[in-house]
Amino acid sequence: MSTTAPPFLSIRDLSKNYGAFRALHDIDLDIRRGEFVCFLGPSGCGKTTLLRAIAGLDQQDGGTILMGGRDVSRASPSERDFGIVFQSYALFPNLTVTDNIGYGLVNRRRSSAEIARRVEELLTLVGLPEQGKKYPIQLSGGQQQRVALARALATSPELLLLDEPLSALDAKVRVRLRDEMRSLQQRLGVTTIMVTHDQEEALAMADRIVVMRDGGVEQVGTPEEIYRRPATPFVADFVGHMTFMDAIVTGPGRVRVDELDLLVANATPFAVGTPVRLAMRPEEVRTRSIGEDTPNRFEARIGDLAFLGSYCRAHLEPTSSRSTRIAADFSTNAMRDLGITAGQVCTVAFPPEALHVFAGGAR
Ligand SMILES: Nc1ncnc2c1ncn2[C@@H]1O[C@H](COP(=O)(O)OP(=O)(O)OP(=O)(O)O)[C@@H](O)[C@H]1O
Ligand SMILES: [Mg+2]
Repeated sequence: MSTTAPPFLSIRDLSKNYGAFRALHDIDLDIRRGEFVCFLGPSGCGKTTLLRAIAGLDQQDGGTILMGGRDVSRASPSERDFGIVFQSYALFPNLTVTDNIGYGLVNRRRSSAEIARRVEELLTLVGLPEQGKKYPIQLSGGQQQRVALARALATSPELLLLDEPLSALDAKVRVRLRDEMRSLQQRLGVTTIMVTHDQEEALAMADRIVVMRDGGVEQVGTPEEIYRRPATPFVADFVGHMTFMDAIVTGPGRVRVDELDLLVANATPFAVGTPVRLAMRPEEVRTRSIGEDTPNRFEARIGDLAFLGSYCRAHLEPTSSRSTRIAADFSTNAMRDLGITAGQVCTVAFPPEALHVFAGGAR
């Protein structure tokens, strides 16, 4: 795909108010053809509102939406080419699976032979051949969402919109369907936007993630960019686990947390003496192969240890400090090799490149 191709979906300066409440503001977003994009953010941040504005189900107050080069800002939903799946299965309970899937095609006055052929094809596509005669109530939640997906894809829309399609399902089904949906999307190449508040889902499925907060876009990036280079403390905290520490800038690439003098790899724009917030992920705390020349090494007491299945999360207390607590993850292997137990003191290190420095003060 050429990077110079115009985006499939282009949103500019979009805003939406409910009375005095600002549900969306200053939304600028470009989505490429064939891309899988997730809107990720806490409850109430405006994900559904933005998705519904793109669909034309709830029109925005200001701004423009271009779809395939066409200005659809004021177009009705039926004038926009999309399929949609909602969180609650929203199938017609009185129609069979076949009739549910064929619904949009009947509306478009396709011949019954053509509809039958297309429904068969879609049933196979979503892994439900021979289930066509059933009614929604006779299907599991996961099967119902497959039917909803087939219905959304029936008219071969250019854009697929998914609003928390997996959140009502139990964990195992959810992961299986997530993988199936992702490979189906790649096979069909349909441009897809999925709303979720589940960061793991977004990281696993998306080409790019749009992190939203309070009606605005906080950061847009690939899953790796969002996870490894969070632009703000909000993103750092919302995606993955992060320990935040109050620190003071002591020099170029140097900060101090209590008694710990630390080297940070990423140059910070802050002047000496500036209070900053230092952040680090638990899995980045180094526990092995620490030598005399390893930077940012220190002694820490292992506070409480929580067993989390494939790894343990510990809270480290630097022996030089009374107030700082740092989350650190130990793999099952590390636990065994190092013989780690609560209360013991060990040497750990913060890799300079794993430390993120944000402006201090209120978040
Ligand atoms: N019809 C409405 N009238 C008034 N306020 C609304 C309306 N729809 C949404 N809101 C408000 O707009 C904000 C954004 O709602 P939205 O449904 O987009 O959130 P969301 O990010 O999808 O959250 P969730 O993860 O809980 O689904 C919320 O504070 C909500 O209360
Ligand atoms: Mg929502």
